[in-house]
This record gives sequence, C-alpha cells and structure tokens, in this order.
Amino acid sequence: MKNIQSRIDILRKELTRHNALYYDKNEPEISDDQYDALVKELESLEQKYPLFASGKSPTKKVSGYVSSSFQPIKHAVPMLSLDNTYSREETKSWYGRTIKKFANKNLEFAIEPKVDGVSASLTYLNGVLITGATRGDGETGEDITENIKTIQDIPNKLKIKNLPTFFELRGEVYIDKPDFEKLNKNISSLDGQEFANPRNAASGSLRQKNPRVTAERKLRFFIHSFGKIDGKQFEKQSEFLKYCQDCGFTLQNDFKVCSSFKEISEFMDLMLEKRDSLNYEIDGLVIKVNSLNLQNKLGSTNKSPRWAVAFKFPAKQATTKLITIRIQVGRTGIIAPSAILEPVTLSGVTISHATLHNFEEIERLNVNEGDIVLIERAGDVIPKIVKVIKKESENFFKSPKYCPSCNSEIVKENEKEIGYRCINPECPAQFRRHLMHFVSRNAMDIEGFGKALIDQLLEKNKLHKLSDIYHLIYSDFIDLELFKDKKANNLVKAISESKARPLSKLIFALGIRHVGEKVSGIVAKRFKNMNSLLLASLEDFSKIPEIGNVLALSLKNFFENEAARYVIEELVSAGVNMIESESINKGLQFEGRIFVLTGELEKYTREKVTEIIKSLGGKVASAVSKKTDYVLAGINAGSKFEKAKALNIKVIGEAEFEKLINI
Ligand code: IVH
Repeated sequence: MKNIQSRIDILRKELTRHNALYYDKNEPEISDDQYDALVKELESLEQKYPLFASGKSPTKKVSGYVSSSFQPIKHAVPMLSLDNTYSREETKSWYGRTIKKFANKNLEFAIEPKVDGVSASLTYLNGVLITGATRGDGETGEDITENIKTIQDIPNKLKIKNLPTFFELRGEVYIDKPDFEKLNKNISSLDGQEFANPRNAASGSLRQKNPRVTAERKLRFFIHSFGKIDGKQFEKQSEFLKYCQDCGFTLQNDFKVCSSFKEISEFMDLMLEKRDSLNYEIDGLVIKVNSLNLQNKLGSTNKSPRWAVAFKFPAKQATTKLITIRIQVGRTGIIAPSAILEPVTLSGVTISHATLHNFEEIERLNVNEGDIVLIERAGDVIPKIVKVIKKESENFFKSPKYCPSCNSEIVKENEKEIGYRCINPECPAQFRRHLMHFVSRNAMDIEGFGKALIDQLLEKNKLHKLSDIYHLIYSDFIDLELFKDKKANNLVKAISESKARPLSKLIFALGIRHVGEKVSGIVAKRFKNMNSLLLASLEDFSKIPEIGNVLALSLKNFFENEAARYVIEELVSAGVNMIESESINKGLQFEGRIFVLTGELEKYTREKVTEIIKSLGGKVASAVSKKTDYVLAGINAGSKFEKAKALNIKVIGEAEFEKLINI
C-alpha cells in the first residue's frame, strides 16, 4: 500500500509539473501520448484504491495554468476539458452509454474536428468584444484581450440583429500548417528556438506580452462552444454554430450531424483519411450530443461534460532518448547520419531509428548523443527529430571530416550540395553497399545473397569487384557460417541464373547516380544493348523525352568512365547478359511484384490501393514473407511492419507509393 501511495504521489507531482511546462512555458518535456498514459495510470490507481482519492488530484480538475504575468479573468461559466477515447470501441461504448440514458429519443450527435490549438474564451456585451481569456485553470483565465483583438477571424463587433446581451463564446486559437512552417523558418533564421508543433506556436504567440508580436503571427480561430448566454436561446449545437457564422465567425468545413454510430464511424474514417490534407492540425474529433436540452440533462463532472467526448487520433509525436548518431556511407558515397533511439511506441509502431538528413540538420537541431528528443512520424514511415526536449549532452556533435570506412577526406562536390560525400572509388563501405544493391531483388535479383553473406565473403577476401560474384563457386560457400550443401548449391544456381537478367536490371544494378528503376527501363528500351550505351553521346541521352539534363550527364559520365567500362567488361567476360530483348521487358510496372498492406492508410482506401497495384500487374498478399516486395504501411502498422523490418523488406508509406506510381 505504501508503494501505491508513493506512486500516486509521484504521478500527481509529475502531472502538475508537466501541466506547467505545457500550459505556461509551451515547452512540454513529454509527448501528448506519454502524458495521457500517466493520466490513465493515475486514474486507474485512484479507481482501484479509493482510499487515496483526492479532489485536488490532476485527474479531477481541468489542467491548466494561470500565470501571474497576466491579469486574471474569471469565466462566467467554467471552461471544462473533454474526456478522451482512443479507439472506435471506446467511442462506441460512450455512444452506447449516452443513448441508453434517453431510451425514446432519436439522438443526434454533432461531430467536429478537434483542432489542435489553444482554447480561448471571448465575451461580447451587446455584440461588442469586451474580453478575451485563456482557459487557465478552468475557473480563471489569463487576460489576453489585446492579443485576441489582433486575430482576424474574431470580429470586434457582431454583425447581426437580436444579439444576446451577454455572449460568452469558446473556441480554438490555432495556426495554419503553412504559416507555422514560415514562422519556424523565420525564427530559425534569427537563431531562435523553433516551436515543436503548431499548437505550441499558437499558445506561445497568444500569450505574448506585446500584442504586436501576436499580430505578426497569423493566428486563426474556430468557434466550438459557449459559456454563459443572456438574452438568447439555442436548441442545438448545430444551430448555435450556424448563428455564430452569421455573426461573422468562420466555421470548420468538416462538420456533421449523425444519427447512428455507423454514420459517426464513417465520419471517423473520412477524417482519418483527410487529416494530413487539412490546412491545420487536428488531433481527433469531438462528438457532442446535438440537443442543448439533453446536454443540460446529462450535465458535467468537475472536469468534463458528459454530453461530449473526444476521439483522439493516433499521436504523431513522442519523446525518447537519442542513444547514438550513426554515420553511414551510402552506395554513392553519401555520408548520412541517422539517429539510433531508445525504442518508443508511436501510433502503434516501435520506433528505434530516425533520420537526421545531414550534418547541417544536426547543427540546426543542436542535438547530440544522450539528449531527449521529440520525434515525429507523419505520412512517411521514417520518423524525424523535431527538436531537443532536454539537453543531456555537454558537447556539440562534431561532424566527421573523414569517411568512417576508408578514412579519406569527405567533400561537398559543389556549392549547392548539403550532404558530404566520400569520393574514394575504392571505399570498402561504398563497395559493400554497392554489392548489396547489385544483388537486390529489383536489380540482379540473386536469391539468398544477403547482407550477412556479403559480410562473410568480404571478410574472407572473396569479393574485390562486382564481377567476383560470378566467379564464386560451391567451395566458397560451403565453409561459411550456416551454409549446408543445399544452400550452397542453391546460391551457385541463383548466381548463374542472374546472368540472364535483362539489360534494364543490369543498368539499375550498376548504381549510376540518379538512375532508378524507371529510368533504367527507359534507357534499356531505347538502346537495346550495352554496346550502344557505351557509344552514346550526351545528345543521344538528352534526346530521350523522359530524361533531363542531370540524368543525361550522369549517364554519359558513367558510360565513358574508365573504371565503369572496366566493370562492364569484366561482367561481359563473366557471361552476364548485355541485351534487352523485346520480350523481356514488356510487362507492366508492378509485374510479379507482391505488396502487403498494413495499418490505417490515410489518403487511399485499401480497395483503391489494391486496384492500383493490380492494374499495374502486381499482387496484394495478406501476409509478409520473403517473397514480399513492398510493405505499404499506414498508421498503427503492427506486426507486419515489424516482420518486414526483420526480413529487410522495403517498407513504404503512402507518399512513396505515390512516387512509385508517379502521382
Ligand atoms: S467542445 C467542455 N469542440 O479540446 C469543452 N472542444 O481537450 C467543450 N477543442 O478544451 C469543448 N476542438 O479547447 C470542443 N471542436 C471542438 C474542439 C474542442 C478543440 C479543445 C477545447 C477543449 C479541449 C479538450
């Protein structure tokens, strides 16, 4: 029992601390998901051990903060919070409990997106804006009237007859995604501390001491509820919103009145899909009983109304520790730093890596090993680091000057390039990567020739150039770890079979800069054999409609490069096919490719994706196996995503899928 009490005390203290960080400083140390997990833990302990219950617990009051830097304003009606649900089932059981209370009524529900901003309360006296306040602790807010007056969506005078004499309106102050990006860029160019997300930016901008700063921040406002109203009565939430629109407020476009859970559920699907394409951030939906009379009957707890619930979308951000900054050398010599993270769950997926793009990005973030960082996973699968939440490291990260593999100096090839490159053609790390690429499924497709095998063969000095692959024999494999007779024989066979791949595959396998699968196909179709490629001029390449200047130059440089020509000669001597016969490459783009879909897709339905894949000659399978070519992962991707990672299968998000199909 003592342990339980002390855990409850710790949780209450922690939550109070995080509330102040979130509401007062706009610098949360943990993500919303992690905050919600702490609340849930405390709630369940308090429920299980009522002995330790307390009316002062953060679970029993509206979380918020009233800073002494602003004048206090007492709300006429307290500003409450909302109870959250995190799944369709949880929302359905709230819906079930609610309709049960009104057995004979045909209940309507009004649903609106939950805007990820800061709530504000406005009061109008006979149609004139008198005060603007933050939510504060729910009872008392902070006076931000002058700042509120700078927001263009908030009318100073309501343009309508028969106005309420006293009108207390509540809504969400937010900042558009594009304006948020611009603001952060601006802050960064002035060496300031960027905001982690639009919500923090809105909150920070709204609680400025100087209203001129607020005015520059392009804040927006949506109405969602009301406090005290004198001199007017509404029957429904939908009617109230419409009235506000007539008064001159802007409403959200996505709003729906539903009469069944099926309709609610369909709206959830629609909004989950639409979420990323909206101009502003939403973190869920708010479902409200539409009738104000029934809302009154249901009433509220100290903390939240019983007539409404928030259905929270999966979080996009989480905090974790950056364990190491790993520096890898890519196939083309690009030196790419990436972050190895303490594993953390984000929208149902365990994340242990994040991209860091380049050294400028590390400098911009001022991040180093050991720091606690905020990561974000949007449409794309690989998460990025948004900012450092807590500086734990003492030093700055030192960018390397030399290639971690061959120790030669790394360079920027031209002024415009951001990334550094190792230009040593004999760099072992590049060669290893190139080998991996050469044998990969979309290139020469040598089954069984994986990373582990490459590492063993390199260790045993069996591979010095690409063509060495074709001189490997049974005895080279049989002594290796985990190799038995059958596996060794299969590999010999797979290597031999790969010699017959069409020219398009070979061009792709050669790893020419900027030349992907699609361009390889186009080039192979045009030139038909390696000889014509070796003789081609820059003009011959530029003439191809799909090929621009950069690509043409890259192709020309490659095919006239002595070292590349030597590699090709060696492959010819090893018996590798150098022609593209008409029959080989006439298939559709996804011919023979197997896709597996996992998680909730946001932009397309599964049916639509399946239709696209099939129309391009591919297949959609239900389980991930070694035969899978791509796993298309949405949010909440679970075991299939993990399995794909374990099998080293390419995992793509919707954005990459669009690139594949050229949208
Ligand atoms: S209705 C009693 N509707 O979410 C509170 N709130 O987490 C009634 N919010 O404090 C609020 N979008 O600031 C409502 N469409 C919406 C909303 C919304 C965002 C905020 C609001 C509230 C918080 C609760």
